Amino acid sequence: ARRRKIVAGNWKMNKTVPEALALVRELRGTVAAVGDVVEVVVAPTFLALQPLHVALEGAPLQLAAQNCHWESSGAFTGEVSAPMLAELGCAYVIVGHSERRQLFGETDESVNKKARAVLAAGMKPILCVGETLAEREANQTLDVVERQVRGGLAGFEAKDVATFVLAYEPVWAIGTGRNATSAQAQEVHAAIRGLLGRLYDGETAGRVRIQYGGSVKPDNAAELLGQPDIDGALVGGASLKAGDFAAIIKAAT
Ligand code: G3H
Repeated sequence: ARRRKIVAGNWKMNKTVPEALALVRELRGTVAAVGDVVEVVVAPTFLALQPLHVALEGAPLQLAAQNCHWESSGAFTGEVSAPMLAELGCAYVIVGHSERRQLFGETDESVNKKARAVLAAGMKPILCVGETLAEREANQTLDVVERQVRGGLAGFEAKDVATFVLAYEPVWAIGTGRNATSAQAQEVHAAIRGLLGRLYDGETAGRVRIQYGGSVKPDNAAELLGQPDIDGALVGGASLKAGDFAAIIKAAT
């Protein structure tokens, strides 16, 4: 089966609620035009999820949260749970973004628990993996990515794994303006798909969509998205400008 491309904008800690509403308004035409061909997702701050959900009125733009807690409720000051996000209309939750791993102590184990909570709440995880520059230079890229994929997916059955979106984001390419080349990215994407085939089966490996993330821009998107195992993009900086994000979405068609 052909995998539908998925382009997601991770806004990180950017955009007030009015700014978020304005950005989505600017994207509506592009999203409507690519509707069946490309799935478009935006991940605003928690604060903007509800206002965007209301403003979208069923428009084919999916919402993602950038994080969640693994418990459904309780004494966890400052946290937000997966059922709360599902109730707001979120379709996806990003888990294990490298910034969360590096700055907020996220581990493969916590990522795995979060992914479980996301699925239990009826949403889909966007599970991020990727090596640091030191790891790449030490030729550990495939080992690191394999460990993160195995850890994040630990205990899941094939039917659950098929609903995941994986995002390969080399840490050295995030926010640096230095994207992985299409060959570097394709190599890791193919390795991830091969791993999924060994851990589960060929059908599951063929269904999982794997996004590339790390300095995706209008001028490199088409080449990256043209690789056989690159099924979309997880876009940070360039998703904050409607024109740039729209150009990346079009490059996926
Ligand atoms: O989640 C998105 C990535 O971290 C990529 O960010 O496009 O600003 O490099 P960037």
